[in-house]
Amino acid sequence: MKNPHELIEKNVGLLTVLILFAIALGAMAQITPLMFQQQTMEPVKGLRPYTALELEGRDIYIREGCVGCHSQMIRPFRAETERYGHYSVAGESVWEHPFLWGSKRTGPDLARVGGRYSDEWHRVHLNNPRDVVPESNMPGYPWLEDTVLDGNLTAKKMEVFRGFGVPYTDEDIANGQAEVAGKTEMEALIAYLQQLGTHLK
Ligand code: HEC
Repeated sequence: MKNPHELIEKNVGLLTVLILFAIALGAMAQITPLMFQQQTMEPVKGLRPYTALELEGRDIYIREGCVGCHSQMIRPFRAETERYGHYSVAGESVWEHPFLWGSKRTGPDLARVGGRYSDEWHRVHLNNPRDVVPESNMPGYPWLEDTVLDGNLTAKKMEVFRGFGVPYTDEDIANGQAEVAGKTEMEALIAYLQQLGTHLK
């Protein structure tokens, strides 16, 4: 055989295996170093775990599919930082499981929406976005105000997060249910939104 490459080109099985090997090697070369870099592993100064109520709010954010229209990832470009604030850094997401960076922006990025509006603004907006932003095409979520949380699973969830390395204390976990019980889903979701992006100093 004149050209050994012919062997690969004429053997689809071998070609497939070698392509997969090349892609896997490339991915590993990119991803593996990130797992050992301080910058991507260490929480930013001032980061704290979600309170029990914020944690429940985050689950509602996931359940309602907010991530399908809102990213939480400000890229380091001027057009983004001028609109949304400091770009997102890895140390803000080290305790996120799963992360909610998203990739679809039908609505604005929410990575630093915490503190931008009042709780009351969020309540009105989530009930019916058109009441505060007439041209909005975001759906309303009025049922969030009718559903009261019992917090039966809150402590369990915090334990699971502790298993992932989130530094919840025994006391945090013991108080989890009491902090959540009786609050509405709306209150939990707003608590979650109001802390987004506020920890980076
Ligand atoms: C169909 C897409 C869509 C979905 C789903 C959606 N949104 Fe929105 N959202 C928008 C759009 C568009 C805007 C901009 C107009 C407005 O403010 O209503 C917006 C605006 C917002 C804002 C104001 C952001 C700012 O900086 O002004 C917040 C907060 C928000 N959404 C939260 C949520 C939450 C929480 C959920 C899930 C319960 C959600 N959104 C689901 C499309 C969506």
